[in-house]
Amino acid sequence: MSEKNLEKCLETIKDIRSVRNYLKEPIPEDVLKSIVDCARMAPTARNIQPWEFIVVTDKDLLRKLSDIIPQGDFIKDAAAGIMVFCHKNTEYFLEDGSAATQNILVSARFHDIKSCWIAGYQGPYYENEDIPMCEGIPCTPIPDLYTMQSDIKKEFEIPEGFELISVVSLGYSNDNPPADKRALEDVIHWNTFQPK
Ligand SMILES: Cc1cc2nc3c(=O)[nH]c(=O)nc-3n(C[C@H](O)[C@H](O)[C@H](O)COP(=O)(O)O)c2cc1C
Repeated sequence: MSEKNLEKCLETIKDIRSVRNYLKEPIPEDVLKSIVDCARMAPTARNIQPWEFIVVTDKDLLRKLSDIIPQGDFIKDAAAGIMVFCHKNTEYFLEDGSAATQNILVSARFHDIKSCWIAGYQGPYYENEDIPMCEGIPCTPIPDLYTMQSDIKKEFEIPEGFELISVVSLGYSNDNPPADKRALEDVIHWNTFQPK
């Protein structure tokens, strides 16, 4: 890869933000296919690839999804949504589905499509209701997620054993929210955690 292309790829990856406003323009089917093609190439523990992807483009279904998903109302205005399911009968299914989800965000961005990762699965860490604030972020259980999982499984007739890992909303957009990230020097450690 030329230095210029490399620079552009890295900048594009760093430019991926969660975008929740979309233009009305539809996403061509071959583009959606190419995004799922990238999702399926993500790494999985023992290469089990326990996933299935449902691409939702039907407006009524997108509206149904937004009715079901408490923290994803904006999906009704998306051009498409991709639901990532993994079979729970495998080790690391949450990590596998998350890796696929990230590939969706990255490949979409290379197609100039903005996206937002919507949580689908509650890890076992949420079972402890005593978890306090984590660095200012409340680590409280989200009971709505349980209802959302079962409502989506019912609506989309998901076979037994599959868990919804994420829903990714997708669409063209002029939105370009600023990044709010910890600084590189703050997060990077060389060879040892302490001292910096
Ligand atoms: C596991 C996970 C779950 C998320 N769930 C939601 C969600 O349910 N609704 C939403 O609007 N954004 C959700 N997001 C997006 C985050 O809010 C967003 O990534 C974060 O605020 C940082 O902003 P940025 O992606 O623009 O850098 C989720 C992101 C991740 C990785």
